[in-house]
Amino acid sequence: MLNLVLFGPPGAGKGTQSEKLIRKYNLVHLSTGDLLRSQIAAGTELGLRAKQLMDQGLLVPDEVVIGMIESKLRDNQNAAGFIFDGFPRTVPQAAALDVLLNQHETGINIMVALVVDSEELTRRLLLRGQTSGRPDDQNEELIRRRVKEYNDKTTPVADYYSQQGKFVAIDGIGTIDDIFETICHKIDGSVV
Ligand code: AP5
Ligand code: MG
Repeated sequence: MLNLVLFGPPGAGKGTQSEKLIRKYNLVHLSTGDLLRSQIAAGTELGLRAKQLMDQGLLVPDEVVIGMIESKLRDNQNAAGFIFDGFPRTVPQAAALDVLLNQHETGINIMVALVVDSEELTRRLLLRGQTSGRPDDQNEELIRRRVKEYNDKTTPVADYYSQQGKFVAIDGIGTIDDIFETICHKIDGSVV
């Protein structure tokens, strides 16, 4: 199995690169942001509660996203592997993911972090906000709050994988194809 964590701040390109990686490596894409937006679209109670936090650029509680990942892992027992996009976002989420993957007798091979400065992130997200309809892309203050939430709560997750010798950081600025090639190179080098 190939299990990859794609890491980086809001707007770093996690979703964009995931779309290409799932095709090349035949992986299942698990984006907790996408899963939460599906719950919102379906009008579930979980979706309604999550929306209040997401619209403010704040993280939803760990147990909510861990529960969603747990059920997706159960539903995809025969997958060739997974890309985790936007998850784990806290150290407790990372620890829970290790436990879950262990239960399935597998683990994370590599975490690839996309490094992009906050000016470029803001530029990308405001641009996307013109067409995405995502409430959290709509203004600069909200985007800054998302980046702050990332800096405060999510950056320690990089140390978690670094301690396991699985962390790789790459430049997330450049063409989508060049960045994709760099990621593939890192993945191929990590799988022996
Ligand atoms: P989530 O959906 O994960 O959003 P995010 O992390 O804020 O990241 P984005 O999806 O905005 O960015 P991305 O890195 O995927 O970039 P993309 O490829 O789209 O989370 C949303 C919310 O849900 C959170 O704020 C939180 O409330 C909640 N949540 C989700 N997961 C959670 C968790 N685990 N725990 C707790 N709460 C959670 O690219 C962005 C734009 O840039 C696009 O327009 C794209 O076309 C463009 N672009 C991409 N690559 C390039 C490039 N190389 N050059 C120029 N433009 C580019
Ligand atoms: Mg995304």
